[in-house]
Amino acid sequence: MNQPNLVELNNITKKFPGVTANDQVNFSVRPGEIHVLLGENGSGKSTLMSVLCGLYSPDAGDIIIRGTKMQFRSPRQAINAGIGMVHQHFKLIESFSVAENVILGDQSIPQVLKMHQIKNYLTKLSQRFGLQINPSAMVWQLSVGEKQRVEIVKMLYRGSQVLILDEPTAVLTPQETGELFRTLREMTATGRGIVVITHKMHEVMEIADRVTVLRRGRSVATLEKQQINQQDLAWLMVGQDILRQEKKKIPPGDKHVLELKNVHCLNDQGLPGLTDISFTVHSGEIFGIAGIAGSGQRELAEVIARLRPVSSGDVLINNQAITGCSPRQAIDHGVAMVPEDRLGTGLVPNMDAMDNLILKSYRNKSLRRGPFLNRTLTREKVNQLVSRFEIRLNAPDAPVKLLSGGNLQRLLLAREITSDPQLLIAVYPVRGLDIKATEAVHNLLLEQRSKGLAVLLISEDLEEIFKLSDRVGVLCDGRITGIRPADATGVEEIGLLMMDAQNQGETTI
Ligand SMILES: Nc1ncnc2c1ncn2[C@@H]1O[C@H](COP(=O)(O)OP(=O)(O)OP(=O)(O)O)[C@@H](O)[C@H]1O
Ligand SMILES: [Mg+2]
Repeated sequence: MNQPNLVELNNITKKFPGVTANDQVNFSVRPGEIHVLLGENGSGKSTLMSVLCGLYSPDAGDIIIRGTKMQFRSPRQAINAGIGMVHQHFKLIESFSVAENVILGDQSIPQVLKMHQIKNYLTKLSQRFGLQINPSAMVWQLSVGEKQRVEIVKMLYRGSQVLILDEPTAVLTPQETGELFRTLREMTATGRGIVVITHKMHEVMEIADRVTVLRRGRSVATLEKQQINQQDLAWLMVGQDILRQEKKKIPPGDKHVLELKNVHCLNDQGLPGLTDISFTVHSGEIFGIAGIAGSGQRELAEVIARLRPVSSGDVLINNQAITGCSPRQAIDHGVAMVPEDRLGTGLVPNMDAMDNLILKSYRNKSLRRGPFLNRTLTREKVNQLVSRFEIRLNAPDAPVKLLSGGNLQRLLLAREITSDPQLLIAVYPVRGLDIKATEAVHNLLLEQRSKGLAVLLISEDLEEIFKLSDRVGVLCDGRITGIRPADATGVEEIGLLMMDAQNQGETTI
């Protein structure tokens, strides 16, 4: 019964310039358990796990692995001790195959071992845990869900006894999440210990054997399964009630801010990405797009922001066609977007927060002095944004890639919303955000809606879609399979439209 802990972290302290990311934190992993690590954005979760996996060395405290005190000088030493981590941002090499990525850096492989033997082994290993991967596929061809499976197989291949997953479901569809959870259970059944970082309460309720809550770098509680309930967790995390704003019943304006007329486009593989898309979004309306990931959501956002050419059809803003416009001209027409890939296309990772915040307004005359930026005025404006959107910057001139996931997201939203757009395209706007930040973003979107902004909300979370949207359009395989007023439909109907059940006789229920 009383097996020793796989991992014990005792009084871990880790400081960065201007912030104590972990302050004397205690944490342990038992064999066969899923231990959820919970906390607001910036509370120190990723840092604590990076200490455990040898990426950071702690300023103080002990790491004890199966009873032995260890000091990791590199992730390799942690891997050798059986600790594997799948990071928030994946670390695969795109131009290598799956198998090459998995064995990368493994010096124990005998030179004579043939690639096909390795591939066979990987196939068996992945099947054992219900992880579908193709060892011969090239990584650049894979979806995010598949890349994540490769990362997990890589850690299993290296003999991880403790697997740490940093927000693994943030990028997954509900179906993929279900598969992942089944895989995790398979792994705990072999005595492995799992740490999962997540912001989603229902996932905590579903998978946690224990929960540890961090707040501002400190551990505030560790709860056993039978002690876990949602209200207490929310309180422990933020120390206050979460204000939930309901959607006010206000009729949308009659101005057509966005109109798509029979839009067709190709996807990255040169195949039809969108087929015959037509809909309108009014001023003061949130139009939600529901759909399984990869149904054309990205293409839709890109076509409207003019980042992707249309093959036929028209995109109109305020009744003016912008189909031939550049992205810059689309911005000038009032189109703002919070893209899916924050660090890739939304922000410049190596620039500081100020430069990122003014990235789109540097042409604004009020911020300039002659041809130059007025640094004092700009700094003032940036300070206002930082406090209004509660962005936690430790060092204002540090590159934004060092910010926690949630703070990155706030930065991006702050910039887009304050650019005074006519249309805001919000692609998975709360992905990776904690509950408080999620409510803040939702409130912000509802507030902007009542001021007359047109919002195109793209989300996989039906609860979010129903909470915010006035109308819901469903994307399936690049087509709109239905548009419904949100208060005259339900999750079931939308779910069927997501699978396009009406058009596939045999799957109609
Ligand atoms: N390499 C780094 N250099 C400087 N500061 C850092 C670094 N990594 C993290 N921080 C800071 O340490 C604090 C904790 O960050 P961490 O990434 O651990 O938070 P988190 O709980 O994982 O948040 P999120 O839910 O947003 O991912 C934050 O204030 C962050 O800005
Ligand atoms: Mg994190």
